[in-house]
Amino acid sequence: MSRIETRGRHLNHVATLYDPLIDRLSFGREQRFRELTLRHMAITPDEQILDIGCGTGSLTLLAAEQLSAKGSIIGIDAAPKMITLAQAKAKRQDSIARFQSGVAERLPFADGQFSLVVSSMFCHHIDRELKQLAFAEMHRVLRPDGRLVTADIDSPSTLLGWLTGWAGRWLLFQPELEDNLHGKLPTLMAEAGFIDICRPDHVHGLISFWTANRGPA
Ligand SMILES: C[S@@+](CC[C@H](N)C(=O)[O-])C[C@H]1O[C@@H](n2cnc3c(N)ncnc32)[C@H](O)[C@@H]1O
Repeated sequence: MSRIETRGRHLNHVATLYDPLIDRLSFGREQRFRELTLRHMAITPDEQILDIGCGTGSLTLLAAEQLSAKGSIIGIDAAPKMITLAQAKAKRQDSIARFQSGVAERLPFADGQFSLVVSSMFCHHIDRELKQLAFAEMHRVLRPDGRLVTADIDSPSTLLGWLTGWAGRWLLFQPELEDNLHGKLPTLMAEAGFIDICRPDHVHGLISFWTANRGPA
């Protein structure tokens, strides 16, 4: 599978390291983080869900466990190696989750196809223009009564959060983090047309959860 063109920081080159590293880098807090994300997703069994920037599909697969045979969930990621790993995990777990390569700024889905779009730790991988395009695409593929759940880096609320966030910006040479660290995600969601934007949770002094409704066309 060849890489899909995007300016986003895809993780094709480190895909095989992602699962072993993520729990260590999160100091063993991955499971709790996934549980919180699922709580904010508040899945009902027949939902049609899209997970954007799904990586190796850990969240997608947990969400799939809450769906009935009428429900569906698909994860997309710009890194084909992430998708290959996610598909292998889905096969091992006999999951209904499906995965395909794709980029958030050009979603390969019809208007109004999903009841829930989720993105977990994805938005800080794309620059301002791609964030604008990605939120517009998330809005487009949601049904009028659909909703968005996003978990990502936000304006830091503790010294440790500030040090971690800005160290990431400068040591990893990642300017895409700046809009996150300046707390711009909710504004970008609103500009894309989302309404009722809430921040129900903020953890580790750095990461926030947002929920929003698509609203009428
Ligand atoms: C930090 S990982 C998060 C993975 C997963 N959502 C999780 O919670 O573990 C961010 C993912 O975004 C993907 N990505 C980067 N740019 C992208 C784009 N433009 N469209 C879709 N995925 C992209 C990367 O390849 C990577 O797998």
